[in-house]
Amino acid sequence: MRILHVAAELFPLIKTGGLADVVAALPPAQVAAGADVRVLLPGLPAVLAGVTIQHTVCTFGPAFGAAQVHLRLVRLPDTGLHAYVIDAPFLYRRAGNPYQAPDGSGWADNLQRFALLGWVGAQLAAGGLDPAWAPEVVHAHDWHAALAPAYLAARPGPRPLTVFTVHNLAYQGTFDGALFAQLGLPPGFFQIDGLEFHGLLSFMKAGLRYADCITTVSPTYAREIALPEFGWGLDGVVRDRASCLWGVLNGVDTTLWDPATDPALVANYDMHDPDGKARCKMALQQELGLAVMPDVPLFAVVSRLSEQKGLDLVLQGLAPLLESGAQFALLGSGDGWLEQGFAAAAAAHPGVMAVRLGFDEALSHRIMAGADVLLVPSRFEPCGLTQLYALRYGTLPLVRRTGGLADTVVDAGAEQCAQGIATGFVFSHATVADWLEASRRAQHLYRQPAAWQAVVRAAMQQHFSWDNAARQYLSLYRTALDESAGHNA
Ligand code: ADP
Ligand code: GLC
Repeated sequence: MRILHVAAELFPLIKTGGLADVVAALPPAQVAAGADVRVLLPGLPAVLAGVTIQHTVCTFGPAFGAAQVHLRLVRLPDTGLHAYVIDAPFLYRRAGNPYQAPDGSGWADNLQRFALLGWVGAQLAAGGLDPAWAPEVVHAHDWHAALAPAYLAARPGPRPLTVFTVHNLAYQGTFDGALFAQLGLPPGFFQIDGLEFHGLLSFMKAGLRYADCITTVSPTYAREIALPEFGWGLDGVVRDRASCLWGVLNGVDTTLWDPATDPALVANYDMHDPDGKARCKMALQQELGLAVMPDVPLFAVVSRLSEQKGLDLVLQGLAPLLESGAQFALLGSGDGWLEQGFAAAAAAHPGVMAVRLGFDEALSHRIMAGADVLLVPSRFEPCGLTQLYALRYGTLPLVRRTGGLADTVVDAGAEQCAQGIATGFVFSHATVADWLEASRRAQHLYRQPAAWQAVVRAAMQQHFSWDNAARQYLSLYRTALDESAGHNA
C-alpha cells in the first residue's frame, strides 16, 4: 500500500511538540509493516538543511503568492525514507517557529503557506505532480495539512483514501472568511457543512468534514472531542462524523527513547540493570545546581508552557511541594507569564528548584532519566508523549485523568499496587489541591523503596509500540479502502 503523510513537522528536522515525534516514527513503522510510505513537508530552512535532495520532481507556479514552487524528492536523515519537500522560498524560507512570527502572532500568510501544503498533497495524490509515484492513501496531520482532503473531495472521479489525524483540536487554523476565494476551492465548500466556521474559514473543520476517515491520538480523546468541554466549538462536527472516527494511541520511538542505549545519558540502564538511573539523577542534580541528594524525590516537567498543560496549577502548588522536602526541575518554553513565574520561583528556591527555559532535546532526555516523578497535569491531552517516555525511563508519571494520559498511566492505589499494575499517579480535577494530593501519595510511596521499585518495574515494562500503532492504521486504511471498493462495485 502506498501512503503519503502530509505534515508540518518531523523530528529531527523541525519540532515544536509531539507531532514531530509522531511524523518521524509512524512512517518507518509502517514501512516495517510492509507499506510504501512517503512524507510531504513544507520547505522550511531547517527541513531543507537537514535532508539530502535527490532530484526536483516538478516546478510550477504561481501558486498561493509564490511565483515558483519546486517539489524536491529527498531522503530523510536517520531513516533514509523518501520525502517530498515543497521548496517555495517566498512562503517558507524564514527562520524561527514554523507557525508564528517572532512576536508570537501567526505568520500573516499562514493561509497561503498551509493551503499550499494541502494542495500539493492533493495534487500528488491525484497523480498530477510525480509521474513515478502516487499514493493510495493520503494521511494528513493537524490543521496544517487539513486542506488536502478538501482539495481531493473537490475533484471529480475516483480519488485516493483520505485520512485526517487530529493531534490537537485546540489549534484550528481559522482565517478571515473573506480569504476563501484564495484557496481555489469550489464556492459550495464555504458553508456550514464545509469549512465555514462562524463566518471564518477553518482548516481543522475542512479536515473533519472532507476526510474519509478521522483519527485522533488516543481512544479517550476520541470520545472527549465529541463533548462541548473538549470540542472547541467543533464537537458537533465530530459527533456528525463519529462513525468514521478512531482513536489510535501513539507509541514510543525506542531508537530515540531507550535508557539502555540513550547517548544523552551519563549511564545507561534498563529494567534488569537499573543502577544507572541513580547516576543519571546525581548528574542531573549537579547539572541543574540542585543539592545532590539521592534520597530526595525529584519531580520534573518537560513541556510546552501553555494553558493546555495545567502548569499554572504546578506553579501555584510549588511552595507546599518544596516544603514537603521534594526537589523540582522544569524544562519548558512558551507563554511568557509562565516562563516568568517559574523563573522567579526558581530564583527564590535555590538548590531545591531549577528551571531551564528553551527547547533542549538532550536535556529533555537527561531529565527523563534523572527525575523520579514526571508531572503532566494537563487540562486536556490528546495523547501526550512525555508520560510514555517517562514510563520507559522508570520515572513515574503524575498525570491528570484526561485523554491519552488516562489511557496510559495506572494509578498507584492500594489495589493496583497489590495487582502489580500500577505505573504512576493519577488525579481527577484540574485543581492545585488535587495534584498536590497525588504528589503526597507519590512521596509516601517513595519512602517505601521496595514498593516504589515494584511500580518502577511495572512502568518500565509498559510497551507502547509504534509497530502496534502502525498496524492499526494499516488495518483502518484497508477496511476503509475495502468499504469504498464495495460502494463503487
Ligand atoms: P505536545 O505535543 O502537546 O507539546 P507531547 O507530550 O505529545 O506534547 O510532546 C511533546 C514533545 O516535545 C516531547 O517529545 C517532549 O519531550 C518535547 N518537549 C517539550 N518541551 C520541550 C523542551 N522545552 N525541550 C525539549 N523537548 C521538549
Ligand atoms: C499534540 C498533543 C499531544 C500529542 C501530540 C502527538 O501536540 O497536544 O497530546 O501527544 O500532538 O500526537
